[in-house]
Amino acid sequence: MTLLEVKAVAKHFGAVQVLNGVDLTIEAGTVTGLVGDNGAGKSTLMKTITGLYGTDGGEIRFDGKPMTGLNPGQRRALGIEMIYQDLALARQQDVAANIFLGREPVKWAFGILPGFVDKAKMDADARKMIDRLGARIPSIHRPVGMFSGGQQQTVAIARALTFNPKLVIMDEPTAALAVREVESVLKLIRQMRDEGIAVILISHRLNDVFEVTDRIVVLRQGRIEADLQTGKTQMREVVGYIVGAH
Ligand SMILES: Nc1ncnc2c1ncn2[C@@H]1O[C@H](COP(=O)(O)OP(=O)(O)OP(=O)(O)O)[C@@H](O)[C@H]1O
Ligand SMILES: [Mg+2]
Repeated sequence: MTLLEVKAVAKHFGAVQVLNGVDLTIEAGTVTGLVGDNGAGKSTLMKTITGLYGTDGGEIRFDGKPMTGLNPGQRRALGIEMIYQDLALARQQDVAANIFLGREPVKWAFGILPGFVDKAKMDADARKMIDRLGARIPSIHRPVGMFSGGQQQTVAIARALTFNPKLVIMDEPTAALAVREVESVLKLIRQMRDEGIAVILISHRLNDVFEVTDRIVVLRQGRIEADLQTGKTQMREVVGYIVGAH
C-alpha cells in the first residue's frame, strides 16, 4: 500500500535551491534508506514531509490525503513521526517524562479538579513501551542525559511509537553509536517494519543502510539520483551515485 507520495517537490532557502523537483513514493511496512552527501537536501526533504518546512512547489500526499496547509501537529496526528538527529530529549528528565513530554496523563482529583501529573501511570506506561521494544534501559527513573547514545535513541523511538505512527523518519540514528548499540537500533527498525510501519532511515553509514533497508534512495544536489533495491545493488554503486560518478 502506498503511504507517502512526494511529487515534484521544490524548496529554496533564499537564492539556494535545495530541492529540485523531488519524486518519492514510500510503501507501508518497508524500510527505505535515504543517502547522499552533506548538504544534498536529505533533512530538508524530510522536514517538508513533517510540515516543519513549507514547499515552493509540488505536492505531498500521505495516506491518500494532500498535506498542503497541514501543520506538523496535524501531520503527526495522521501518523508522520520524525526522530531528529539531536533527538530533542529533555536530558535532565527521566524516561517516562521524555516519552510523555508535553502530554502527561493527569489524575483528576475527586473526579472534577484537574490534579497533578499521574506519575505512577506514566512510569507504568513508559515501562510497558520499553518492554514492548525489548530494550535494555538501566532505570526508567534516571535522567536520560546519563544514558548511552543507544539508550537515548531507544527512548526517542519509544516516544515516537506512542503516537502510533504509520511513518517514522530517523535522521542519522546510528551516527554516534557503539557497535552493539547500532545492532539494537537496527533491530528496533526491523521491529517497526514488522509491525507495518514504514521507516525512512537517513544515514551516512552505508553498512547500516545495507543491513536494514529494502530500498536505497540517493539524493544528490536536491534531486533523486538513484532509487535502488538493496538486494540488487552494491556499496560501490551507491557511492558512485552519491558522488555523481555515474
Ligand atoms: N534553515 C535553513 N536555512 C538556510 N539554508 C538551509 C537551511 N537548512 C538547510 N539549508 C541548506 O540546504 C542545503 C541542504 O541541507 P540539508 O540539511 O537538507 O542537507 P543534508 O542532506 O541533510 O546534509 P547532512 O548529511 O550534512 O545532514 C544545505 O546547503 C544547507 O546549508
Ligand atoms: Mg541532514
